[in-house]
Amino acid sequence: MVKTPDLPLVGQITAALKAAPKDIRKLLDGAGKDDILDPTYPYRAGMDKKAYEAQMDRLQLQLVRMMHDIVATRKRLVVLFEGRDAAGKGGTIERTRENLNPRSANIVALPTPTSREAGQWYFQRYVDWLPAAGEIALFDRSWYNRGIVERVFGFSTEQQRNAFFRQLPGFEQTLVDDGIILVKLWLNVGRAEQLRRFLDREADPLKQWKLSSIDVDGLAKWDDYTVAIRDTLNLSHSPIAPWTVIRSDDKRRARIAAIQTILNAVDFAGKDRDAIGLPDPAITGGPELLD
Ligand code: ADP
Ligand code: MLT
Repeated sequence: MVKTPDLPLVGQITAALKAAPKDIRKLLDGAGKDDILDPTYPYRAGMDKKAYEAQMDRLQLQLVRMMHDIVATRKRLVVLFEGRDAAGKGGTIERTRENLNPRSANIVALPTPTSREAGQWYFQRYVDWLPAAGEIALFDRSWYNRGIVERVFGFSTEQQRNAFFRQLPGFEQTLVDDGIILVKLWLNVGRAEQLRRFLDREADPLKQWKLSSIDVDGLAKWDDYTVAIRDTLNLSHSPIAPWTVIRSDDKRRARIAAIQTILNAVDFAGKDRDAIGLPDPAITGGPELLD
């Protein structure tokens, strides 16, 4: 049998695991595949698969109606998917978009800024990807990189960060004033669960590509991230552009709550509020959920 060569970062998660705090390693030790690791998460096991699929089918139908209405009435929707590495952004975006016309619902996952982009107004490259009438833009990470990953890794200066936070309220206010519906989702994953997901990626040749040096080096920076995330969310949680924080230790519950939040933010023909329901308050809230 031909063995596929491992990608370069493979092995580094297992190595980093040894440096993780003892209580986190203990949570991982001997945990069953479906056990929830974080002791503060309100459920002990993941959502039942059948119940999840039934609810997801209902939500998918609502998403299709929402998309139809967005195209027909020329609305514009921006959804920011944010969260630590392995919080579940990619999977949640996939489920949100799977039945939508890819021509009208774009995923925006921008790479590291080029040197030309680094010399522009910070928001400039994101502006290029904002939706036109009848479009949805799903951002896999966003301008919030400046407050979080760039702070933790020193990719930008404090002066640049201060300018970012000064400009941010006006920037988001401008989008909303112009008629864009703006939804900001923060997927919040626990430390042991994040490690488990990284270990799974490392072990799966189909997922190894998802590992980046930021993921590996970020493992030792959990606490720096915690501070940067808290500051960023507190500084950017406003009535016109509030954050919805969703605990994502259970991917199924998190995906459902994320899609419910999006559907509830948009008025559309054929909207069935009962079918959508409210996101589970045990895992959904504002930045206070981070504490
Ligand atoms: P992802 O988890 O989105 O696949 P990474 O974990 O590799 O990507 O990186 C996290 C984020 O950090 C990305 O949005 C990436 O663009 C950003 N980033 C990485 N290197 C730099 C850099 N030198 N300057 C600014 N941003 C960076
Ligand atoms: C996620 O799982 O949150 C992202 O899609 C991938 C990552 O951040 O590593």
